[in-house]
Amino acid sequence: MTSRQQLRSHIRSLRRALSAEQQHQASLDLVQQLLPRPEVQQAQHIALYLTNDGELDTSPLIHALWQQGKTLYLPLLHPVVPGYLVFQLYKPDSLLKPNQFGIGEPELNCSLVCPVSQLDLIFTPLVAFDAQGQRLGMGGGFYDRTLSQLSSTYQKPALIGLAHDCQQVESVPVEAWDIPLPLICTPSRFCSFSEQ
Ligand SMILES: Nc1ncnc2c1ncn2[C@@H]1O[C@H](COP(=O)(O)OP(=O)(O)OP(=O)(O)O)[C@@H](O)[C@H]1O
Ligand SMILES: [Mg+2]
Repeated sequence: MTSRQQLRSHIRSLRRALSAEQQHQASLDLVQQLLPRPEVQQAQHIALYLTNDGELDTSPLIHALWQQGKTLYLPLLHPVVPGYLVFQLYKPDSLLKPNQFGIGEPELNCSLVCPVSQLDLIFTPLVAFDAQGQRLGMGGGFYDRTLSQLSSTYQKPALIGLAHDCQQVESVPVEAWDIPLPLICTPSRFCSFSEQ
């Protein structure tokens, strides 16, 4: 196993070991951290994801954002270009079906897909992060490929990684294609790395 795979497996087992109560409290704390942030307040079109594998539970965040009138989108595996994601409108009455990873997805409807560059904000999942904002995902490269299409000079969309505090490591072993995150939010902290 490479050190990236070992790190993934270690951190995934740490977050899966959190109790239901710890997960519940973390999901509520996350909302308190995020709602006052200007990056969130100023965003209208927001992509996020449904929780899997011990990830921080995004459902309270989703409901709070809907309540604020935000327009939300979920990632779908790209129907034509393997390895990429598209982001499709997600409403309280959207019907979801499990994808090949068992994660709920709306059925593809191209008229409801938002081009990545027109999103104001993307919340990304991650497995491990470090104090430089480097990110290790689940190993599919989906976010790396999809976000690599964005121009680095463009301010939009803002990117915020979401993670439990126990997912922070001293140093993520980085590869050339990994896209770092300028902002990461945990239940206890909002971290900005853009000036480093
Ligand atoms: N921009 C890209 N173009 C082509 N292949 C890529 C790109 N980004 C990543 N990949 C490929 O995807 C594979 C997985 O990448 P990596 O291990 O960084 O995934 P990850 O960051 O853990 O996953 P994810 O981005 O889905 O959260 C690697 O083999 C890598 O070569
Ligand atoms: Mg990567």
